[in-house]
Amino acid sequence: MVSVNKLVKPFLKWAGGKRQLVPLIIENYLPKNYNYQTYYEPFIGGGALLFALQPKKAVINDSNAELINCYEVIRDSVDELIDKLKFYKNNEEYYYTIRDWDREESFQDRTPVQRASRIIFLNKTCYNGLFRVNSQGQFNVPFGKYKNPNILDVAVLKAVSKYLNDNQITILNLDFQDALKNAKRGDFVYLDPPYDPVSDTASFTGYDVNGFNKDEQIRLKETFDSLDRRGCKVLLSNAYTNFIKDLYKDYKQTKISAIRAINSNAKKRGKVDEILVKNYE
Ligand SMILES: C[S@@+](CC[C@H](N)C(=O)[O-])C[C@H]1O[C@@H](n2cnc3c(N)ncnc32)[C@H](O)[C@@H]1O
Repeated sequence: MVSVNKLVKPFLKWAGGKRQLVPLIIENYLPKNYNYQTYYEPFIGGGALLFALQPKKAVINDSNAELINCYEVIRDSVDELIDKLKFYKNNEEYYYTIRDWDREESFQDRTPVQRASRIIFLNKTCYNGLFRVNSQGQFNVPFGKYKNPNILDVAVLKAVSKYLNDNQITILNLDFQDALKNAKRGDFVYLDPPYDPVSDTASFTGYDVNGFNKDEQIRLKETFDSLDRRGCKVLLSNAYTNFIKDLYKDYKQTKISAIRAINSNAKKRGKVDEILVKNYE
């Protein structure tokens, strides 16, 4: 493998973050001897696989506008972002003041740097590092009460910024289908959507206001088919459920036991079976 900069890594903890699965994917499940032209990751989240592979040409996307704003600000204004983050304090009252910005009308007038610093601060100091909003789109995770959260990691932010600037990385804030419109033969696509819930009560749809339901999983499978027809190499991860196994029955499947990084219920943390689906050997 080409040498990569180890400081280029997720700058946020993200629900469904792939840190455990990534080494396994890189070792066993990428196309062999394959030089893809463009790397596509339309559900980028924390970006664990992107940052591990550090492709020179990529299109990354997520429907979460606050998340994508962080990527853009790290690319365009990292020094200003670092200066802002120096002022944040790990204190409960202060936390709720910052958290509640999106309950105020003036939120529209906040600058991209202010919004990105808020998301990074909340992610490091909120309970369990998750991004969750209520039906009105307001961030609603409580204060995490951590002793010493690493609110500002200068080395990682600078390394990620350099990576995004030194390479051809297109950052989009679209629906996955639109983000994949230009994918063509010779490109590699990694699909890591919100997972199909293992049981209805285990349903976890805390990513943004629009839940990812069964119809969305079916729309994604149709997109997988379209990418396959276009000649892209496609890899998908999801929960190992009967629904997903059946949906992708025409493709190669592998069952993986993985440890879920984030589960809001501590008792349910632990091994969750996952599935990898691909359209290549
Ligand atoms: C499982 S997470 C991705 C985790 C990521 N691979 C990582 O390592 O952190 C799924 C992501 O899909 C995004 N998402 C949900 N619906 C979407 C849609 N229709 N189009 C694009 N992104 C969407 C969510 O905002 C979330 O960040």
